[in-house]
Amino acid sequence: MENQLNRADLKLALIMKHASTGLAEIDRSGKISSINLRGEELLKPILIAKNINGENFYTILNSIAPAISNKIKNFPAKAGNILANELHSFKLSFGEENVERHFNFTVTKIFSDCIIVDFDDITKNLLKEKAITELVAEKAVAQGKYEIASNVLHDIGNALVGFGSYINRIKRSLDHADPENLQKLNSFFSLQQPALRSIVGEAKAGAIVSMLSGISESQRKNKEEISKSITEQLNIINHIREMLHIQKQYLNGHSAFERKPVNLRAIINDCILMLYASMEKRQVCLSINVPDKLPDIQADRTRLMQVILNILKNSIEAIDINAEEKKITISVKIKQDLLSLLIADTGHGFDKLTGKELFTRGFTTKASGTGLGLSNCKAIIESHEGTIGIASDGFGKGTVTTIELKL
Ligand SMILES: Nc1ncnc2c1ncn2[C@@H]1O[C@H](COP(=O)(O)OP(=O)(O)O)[C@@H](O)[C@H]1O
Ligand SMILES: [Mg+2]
Repeated sequence: MENQLNRADLKLALIMKHASTGLAEIDRSGKISSINLRGEELLKPILIAKNINGENFYTILNSIAPAISNKIKNFPAKAGNILANELHSFKLSFGEENVERHFNFTVTKIFSDCIIVDFDDITKNLLKEKAITELVAEKAVAQGKYEIASNVLHDIGNALVGFGSYINRIKRSLDHADPENLQKLNSFFSLQQPALRSIVGEAKAGAIVSMLSGISESQRKNKEEISKSITEQLNIINHIREMLHIQKQYLNGHSAFERKPVNLRAIINDCILMLYASMEKRQVCLSINVPDKLPDIQADRTRLMQVILNILKNSIEAIDINAEEKKITISVKIKQDLLSLLIADTGHGFDKLTGKELFTRGFTTKASGTGLGLSNCKAIIESHEGTIGIASDGFGKGTVTTIELKL
């Protein structure tokens, strides 16, 4: 019988010794009567940091979680659960270094003079959980941005359809308006000039004929101009449509490349045309330093346009409306087998820390930014085996974006 009891005691002692959490048996006064290996390991850094000895558990608890020692001391019953799974956080300092620890406690009173404290360090798990929560939140933000972006693209697409159909309508009615009638009238009066002369006199007859021919000529010119600008507008709409299409493909994560000989100067001109109104509105002065004749490069025209538009838009947005100097400079240079494009602005620039983040997908400092612009630019330029860099001497000191493409 006695032998069997000894075996049970031994078993219990062994289980306690090798348990994976810290286990300490204390008496009413807090004196530790036994503690397992894990418990010693957990307490060691606390004793060092707090400079206390490990004889009384209350002393230790008072230094990291005083509420627990109070609960144990004030527990009225002879036996029972004093507390279960309570999380307590505390700081330990080792010289200069500070570490935060999170411990989990469960305390059970077995007899009036035997209390078991079960404790463990759950800092690692807690940090892991926190990282996972942050990751989930980040993903949710990215998903939100994705949804906003695709809604915006969708809305622009719809607006473009309406816009395009109005312009087409104007084009059709312009095609129907026939300036030839006026021209016929004009020739009729020219032929009848001798007859007219006899009725209204030489001077007036001449004036009528030349006035009519002037009107008819200016109407013909007007029609030509309007027709030209309508064609340009329709081209721009097509460009925007193409770009929307690409943006949508980017958002959805797939896209196809195109390689054709393109002229960078022509692309730059198209981009300027598209942004002209917003630059004029903000009174941003544009200086262009591009050689008349540039060799063609093998590239995807729409994508390069997208890159240059993004960069120019960023520059426009970076220039304060009330700034003294409001200038964007576009220059292209040929460097051996490279074509280098520089877009400089006198905008607000950025500090070093911001500079490190600019190409991170989703990074933006703007209230309504998407943070997709530069990361798309980088992807496009790198798909052309080119390089892109953006630099600023600091906040308030403007920005220079450099793109290098292989000739
Ligand atoms: N020309 C510039 N001048 C100053 N900051 C810029 C410029 N271009 C980009 N940035 C910074 O880089 C960030 C990311 O730009 P971008 O990827 O185009 O996204 P978004 O324009 O939507 O913010 C901007 O929010 C801005 O802080
Ligand atoms: Mg942008």
